Amino acid sequence: MSENDVKVQNERRKVVLSGIQPTGVITLGNYVGAVSNWDKMQDEYDSIFFIADLHALTVRREPAEFRQGCMSFFAQLLACGIDPERAVLYFQSHVPAHTELQWILNCNTYVGEASRMTQFKDKSARHADNINMGLMDYPVLMAADILLFRSDLVPVGIDQKQHLELARDIAIRFNNRYGDTFVVPDGYIPKTGAKVCSLSDPTSKMSKSDPDPNGWVSVIEDEASIMKKFKRAVTDSGSEIVARPDKPGISNLLAIYSVMTGKSVEAAEKEFAGCGYGTFKTAVGEAVVEKFRPIREAYARFAADKAYIAEVAKAGAEKAARIAARTLSKVKRKVGLVSFDR
Ligand code: TYM
Repeated sequence: MSENDVKVQNERRKVVLSGIQPTGVITLGNYVGAVSNWDKMQDEYDSIFFIADLHALTVRREPAEFRQGCMSFFAQLLACGIDPERAVLYFQSHVPAHTELQWILNCNTYVGEASRMTQFKDKSARHADNINMGLMDYPVLMAADILLFRSDLVPVGIDQKQHLELARDIAIRFNNRYGDTFVVPDGYIPKTGAKVCSLSDPTSKMSKSDPDPNGWVSVIEDEASIMKKFKRAVTDSGSEIVARPDKPGISNLLAIYSVMTGKSVEAAEKEFAGCGYGTFKTAVGEAVVEKFRPIREAYARFAADKAYIAEVAKAGAEKAARIAARTLSKVKRKVGLVSFDR
């Protein structure tokens, strides 16, 4: 073995980690901003992905529906290409280390920091009747998720950037106070598609909480419905198909087309130069349908096999718990908690 081989062997493979809240369906926004990148990163990194079911409890849920939705979500992630052979995939609530670390991080996070998070402010305004502690503490749980696994890279959409920065701040503060413990993570925010916008209001983020169902599509939606939504997508004045700040509708569709086809936005602009908006919108819809067809088909297979989901989720949680235990015991030692383990 050459000296270089030994060096490569000794180098730790980088860890990629990300999570998603199980709120019904994986939208085109989730897919473009995050899940498609998880899929691409599995070969190159030690990959850890989880269903953030504890995060989802910050909003009131009907228990039976929520439980069923979590199972469906697991099947959707498998269908999107998250491969248990190459990635650790599990339910967050099956690994108690997440919330154990959260408590210790809570004691190293200021209320002022948490209350400055824009998602906290937005959600408090939208759910004025349920501004619970979890809503405010949510970014600290997210920091625990990330820091527990010594994650190097966190693939997310732009809406998670502020939370990620808080995780970095907490890690740096902890390391300064107690000595080197956490890896300070970097975000992996895609250049194209970091914020997919609503099809019916291209100035706002595509979100499944949008009361207008025409604003979003999901990875398991039927083809006719996807086409209908793209055909009626709101566009801008003028007729040019170019990505420009004064053309949010067309820019959004170009970004979607680019990620769905793997072509650059510039190439897409050239491809559709001189075409009408109608032709373009149909082409974007068709690209989405093509991309999602195998996902929808795979979803039907996975969703029907609950025993397989249970097997993968259990094995994933066991693996995750083993990795997490190492960081957690180090953290406990650093803060001075008594331990009788050697
Ligand atoms: P969540 O469940 O809201 O969204 C999952 C992922 O999808 C991205 N995303 C989008 N990207 C582009 N355009 C959009 N319209 C769009 N909508 C959503 C999100 O940025 C996210 O990457 N707090 C997280 C889940 C989480 C997490 C973590 C993520 C919990 N712990 C640790 C990373 C690391 C959330 O609610 O994402």
